[in-house]
Amino acid sequence: MMKKDMIYEGKAKKVFKTDDSKRYIVGYKDDATAFNGEKKGTIVGKGIINNKMSALVFKLLEGRGIPTHFIDILNDREMMVKAVEILPLEVIVRNVAAGSLAKRLGIDEGTEMKEPVLEFCYKNDDLGDPMINEYHIKAIDLATEEQIQLIKRYSLKINEILKRFFIERNIKLVDFKLEFGTHDGEVILADEVSPDTCRLWDADTNKKLDKDRFRRDLGDVEEAYNEVLGRILF
Ligand code: TMP
Repeated sequence: MMKKDMIYEGKAKKVFKTDDSKRYIVGYKDDATAFNGEKKGTIVGKGIINNKMSALVFKLLEGRGIPTHFIDILNDREMMVKAVEILPLEVIVRNVAAGSLAKRLGIDEGTEMKEPVLEFCYKNDDLGDPMINEYHIKAIDLATEEQIQLIKRYSLKINEILKRFFIERNIKLVDFKLEFGTHDGEVILADEVSPDTCRLWDADTNKKLDKDRFRRDLGDVEEAYNEVLGRILF
């Protein structure tokens, strides 16, 4: 498979075309940003960890009936994926109050949700990814009713699978963000699943093992990413 032109460079990833129009190559970078790009930094080795962890999670989910864009891992920082058109939605699932939910609703971080909370944001950097609901999504034509229902079903099932997967590794899955895309007209999970896009807390101590260490200047950022990968590869 020949790697061709880069078609997209995001804050943490690059996407390349290949000689097969149905396949892309995703390359994971060590660059980290937060607060819509306002804060910038490097997390040494992050690209390698996010590539490995995403590959492992995508394989796990495929095995449990969730269609994903993942095809194969190519090297330390790159994976082969199905070419998708990303739906301009961020889907957030929360089990424990943290981050923007804790702030918006005035709930202490760490408070268990009585049931999982699913939120949609409009993926639009200029607007700062505002939260929207299903009416907005249909009214401005971001996805169809059918796609919305499928995305909700997949996201809640992914939550159940990943909650169990992480707790077996003594990690609490606090919340996470997913992105979906279409490939041959079908909705599939795309983007990544990594400590950049999940909140992961040690189940005994609640120590943060994710990108909040970078966002909030908590230190030990690389150590936390390595700790997560170590626990999931055990
Ligand atoms: P939030 O509490 O800041 O809304 O974040 C919820 C989850 O989504 C958390 O696991 C971090 C993840 N997330 C991203 O992956 N990308 C983003 O741009 C933001 C704001 C959050």
